[in-house]
Amino acid sequence: MKVAVIGGGRMGSGIAQVFLSRGDQVTVQEPEAEAARERVAKGLAVAESKGGGPADEALSRLTLGRVPADAELVIEAVPEDPRLKVEVLAAAEATVGAGAVLASNTSSLSIGELGAGLDRPERLIGMHFFNPVPVQRLVEIIVTKATAGDVLDRARAYAERIGKTGVVVYDSPGFATSRLGVLLGLEAIRMVEEGVASADDIDTAMTLGYGYPMGPLRLGDLVGLDVRLAIAEYLHARLGPRFEPPALLRAKVAAGELGRKTGKGFYEWQ
Ligand SMILES: NC(=O)c1ccc[n+]([C@@H]2O[C@H](COP(=O)([O-])OP(=O)(O)OC[C@H]3O[C@@H](n4cnc5c(N)ncnc54)[C@H](O)[C@@H]3O)[C@@H](O)[C@H]2O)c1
Repeated sequence: MKVAVIGGGRMGSGIAQVFLSRGDQVTVQEPEAEAARERVAKGLAVAESKGGGPADEALSRLTLGRVPADAELVIEAVPEDPRLKVEVLAAAEATVGAGAVLASNTSSLSIGELGAGLDRPERLIGMHFFNPVPVQRLVEIIVTKATAGDVLDRARAYAERIGKTGVVVYDSPGFATSRLGVLLGLEAIRMVEEGVASADDIDTAMTLGYGYPMGPLRLGDLVGLDVRLAIAEYLHARLGPRFEPPALLRAKVAAGELGRKTGKGFYEWQ
């Protein structure tokens, strides 16, 4: 199978890696081509060291260049800018056959709005991968009213092909994961703000009491509190007051306490 990935950054290189590991031919379209190749090569080497197939063999099926006309699946993973996404998707649409599936890995943008910029919106679907792609097993498959039935069936099959589980979500702000995950995170912050419990005790309550792999405050620190705030603002504007960012979140971001990446958030990080 021939797959094209547009954008070979953190997500695109991981997506390319999992299809290469599955035995597919993958083209990555990326202005910083050598950096993308290195990321994919490094990911394949790590996978090999953990018992995966030979990295060299998989890498031999990688091409750096433009989306080929015979690509069956094109996945866009360029930065989260709707104009840029429509631009690269429209160019890909003009290159590939009418039966190809076009997918966007957007984590927040409306698939319906991206599709409005295309000639064949029925061929567009969301395939929202999680970071790091080779490890995370979920793909949120985002459908719109326009999405063709065979495109949904194929997106499900593509996710399965690379060992992921696809869940189907109707195109709506925050899809399923961000909408629920952010709401829990915001409520946890409000609880710290109100002095209900410490961050550590709230997280321990959710890990031991509810079996969560990680508490919501620790997760927020890992994701980055600035990223959390941006998503909360987006969801607040679209879904209403229950997503209003708490004052404590705004204060932490204003103070540069963004979580692990700055050494301090709700926790101290080495
Ligand atoms: N990082 C995450 O945890 C995560 C998780 C899920 C989804 N996403 C989404 O995936 C997408 C990519 O995120 P990322 O974290 O990989 O970003 P990134 O910055 O690591 O990668 C983006 C890549 O796109 C390239 N690029 C820029 N303009 C391009 C163009 N015109 N054509 C081709 N390539 C171009 C950049 O050079 C860069 O390598 C975003 O939509 C993001 O919201 C990210």
